[in-house]
Amino acid sequence: MQDRNIDLIFTDELKSLSLIYHLKKLVLLEERKPLRVPTGIKGMDELIEGGFYKGDIILLCGEAGSGKTTFCAQFVYNGANLYGEKAIYVSLEEGADRLTRNMQKYGFDFERLKREHIIELLDVEVSVGEGLKSQIDYILYRADMIHANRLVIDSLSSLLLAQDKRIEARALLHSLYDLFKRKDLTTLMTISIPRGSKSIGLGFEEAMVDGVILLESMVEQKVLENRLLILKMRGTNHSKEYQRVIFSDKGLTLTPCVK
Ligand SMILES: Nc1ncnc2c1ncn2[C@@H]1O[C@H](COP(=O)(O)OP(=O)(O)OP(=O)(O)O)[C@@H](O)[C@H]1O
Ligand SMILES: [Mg+2]
Repeated sequence: MQDRNIDLIFTDELKSLSLIYHLKKLVLLEERKPLRVPTGIKGMDELIEGGFYKGDIILLCGEAGSGKTTFCAQFVYNGANLYGEKAIYVSLEEGADRLTRNMQKYGFDFERLKREHIIELLDVEVSVGEGLKSQIDYILYRADMIHANRLVIDSLSSLLLAQDKRIEARALLHSLYDLFKRKDLTTLMTISIPRGSKSIGLGFEEAMVDGVILLESMVEQKVLENRLLILKMRGTNHSKEYQRVIFSDKGLTLTPCVK
């Protein structure tokens, strides 16, 4: 009788040990899993396994009016509101005031987020050489100051096209990539594509970043249609199909294209 009790105690102990072992294994696996940074954009995150890898640098390429700024603003706004992540939005084309006004139309209250030091909108004049270097230092300094996790450069085209030579533009993108990576900033950078152009930017950008998303707008049956395609997302089993982009008074959402 006593032997049976001892057997039972041992069995219970073995069960507990095995449970602890499996729990520890689960915790370790969870810790090793790379963090994903969701965009919070309806229809987007499920296309990229839940979000961008933390610290990845993503290009958002598209023609004028295809939704680049809206997508970036939503990434920042949702980051703050849904995930408590701080952000720096570097605006090189639209002034910060105009950007705030335009995004207010979607209900993105950037004024409040700025007041609460959750986001910073930086108006940056396009510059080269030492001027550019100090602007980049300033962006990184502000990102450190507010402990930003997300960064937007809208647009990267303005920065690259201002460089005298292609090789300088390439070196600039290379150093931006390194600097943002080192700070673990999940970064969206926009590229403007001239309407009808088949190539993206200066030709080298796609290969140098972690992900490339294409936004298109075209007239179909007398209606302006917008769509999105993920061209590349390193380490991700991403969607390979066009998605319809729908603009509303709440920003943009994605739905699968009807075949
Ligand atoms: N409040 C709104 N409600 C519905 N649609 C809107 C609203 N604001 C903008 N849009 C639509 O979103 C489109 C995309 O605007 P957005 O500024 O994001 O494009 P973009 O790609 O950044 O353009 P650009 O190349 O000029 O910088 C606009 O052209 C318009 O059709
Ligand atoms: Mg824009």
